[in-house]
This record gives sequence, structure tokens and C-alpha cells, in this order.
Amino acid sequence: MSIITLSNRKKKQQKITMVTCYDYPSAKIINETDIDAVLVGDSVAMVVHGHENTTTATLDMMALHTQAVAKGLKKALLVADLPFMSYRKSLKDTMIAVERLVHAGAQAIKLEGADDNLETIRYIVNSGVPVMGHLGLTPQSIHQLGGFKVQGKLPEAQAKLLENAKQLEAAGCFSLVLECIPSSLAQTATQHLNIPTIGIGAGSYTDGQILVWHDVLGIQNELQPKFLKQYHNAHDAMQKALGKYAEEVKQSIFPNESLHSY
Ligand code: KIV
Repeated sequence: MSIITLSNRKKKQQKITMVTCYDYPSAKIINETDIDAVLVGDSVAMVVHGHENTTTATLDMMALHTQAVAKGLKKALLVADLPFMSYRKSLKDTMIAVERLVHAGAQAIKLEGADDNLETIRYIVNSGVPVMGHLGLTPQSIHQLGGFKVQGKLPEAQAKLLENAKQLEAAGCFSLVLECIPSSLAQTATQHLNIPTIGIGAGSYTDGQILVWHDVLGIQNELQPKFLKQYHNAHDAMQKALGKYAEEVKQSIFPNESLHSY
């Protein structure tokens, strides 16, 4: 999948499917589905490494997980997140980070926010690396936002988001993630943009949807935001399977002498 094919999806009014992914075996499962694009999100810091928010994601972390996903992924577009601060120090540091993720296998990178990131985005795009934007709830600014809350509720915030969305498109972003904003705002942004919008907690009018791997599969079921639909309860299935394994070892049922022994 290329960014061109992804953009054409919007023109043909075909929805784009996207999911986060952080490792090789999961990437191989994605190959057997119709998922169009994969994000090695900095959410890895939370869902895989157990941190409280994404500000602790590092470039080493992102590169390692991107490399693992890239080894397994065959069809879907591979986008990787530039982690917190990696695109805010200098253009040189930014480009080192971008290069690292591309060398790890990313076909595109994602970064959060607009405004004084626009120059940086233009430079990355002109260097040949596609950029995905991210507006609304931008988790790298969690301490400024005061928590994981719905954004763009007030008219001024809505106008700002629409302005930023147009600026990101003009700066060369090939797509835009809209996270946790009212459905009507996501619909307006989607109508005003030529690039596809990918929503998470942004209603049903975006050009595509993304969910976090551990959420959509129910590997974790402690956090259940309203926007989430769990398509499986992997947590319970895995707990049950591991419980059975432990029980069978204790009762000397496993390994079976004739089936599992040499
Ligand atoms: O890091 C991430 O998983 C993301 C998605 C929620 C869009 O940025």
C-alpha cells in the first residue's frame, strides 16, 4: 500500500482501515487481513511498556518496534510515530530521527500538532518522507491538555483545528489523524480537506478509522473509552489458556508422555 493508493481511497469514497502494531507476530496477522495501514504508535510506551503516557517513548523504542513490525508486514502502509521532543529540538535532530525510523522500515512518519511544526513538516516532505499529521487530542501534550479529554468542543478551538488541518494539508501531509473530537467537527474537517482523515474517537464521518491493537482485540480491558469497540476479549481468552496450562502442569497432565515427549 502506498500513500497514493491511500489518497485515492478518499476520492473513491472507500473507507481506510488502520490499526496500531508493535511487533513481528502481530504484523504477520495483519497480512492476513484487509487492514490498509499500520501505525507503530508512540502508544507503545503505554500499552507495551506500561508507562502512564506517551511522553516517555524514545527514538530507540520507536526504531526497535518499527523494525520488528517491518520484518513481518507485507502489504499495509507502515507509518511510525516521531516520539516526544524528537522533532522539537533542531531540524538536524529531527532529520536524524526521521532517517532512523525510515531505516527501521517506516514508509511514512507521523507527528503531532501544527503551527510551528509546519516548517519542519515541509522539510521532511521535501526530503522524500511522507508525513501524517495528528490533531485534536495530541497525547504528547498531555500535561498541557490536563488529561485524555475530548478536544475541540468550543467554537474557537473548532476554528483553530480547521485552520490547522488546512495548514497541515498545505505543508504536504498526506493524511491526518483526528483524535477525540466531536463527530461534527471531524465531518467538517473531512469535507474541507483533500487528504484523507483517519479518526479515533472522532465519529463515523472521517475517511478512515484507527484503533490501538490492545484495545480493539481486548488484550487490555481496564480502559474502555466510549469510542472503543472491542472485537475480541483476548485478555480473558489468554488468561483462560494460561490458567489451564498452569493447572495441567501442576496436575502432571502436561506434558503428556506419548504426545509431547521425546
Ligand atoms: O500512538 C498512537 O497509537 C496514536 C494513535 C492513537 C493514532 O497516535
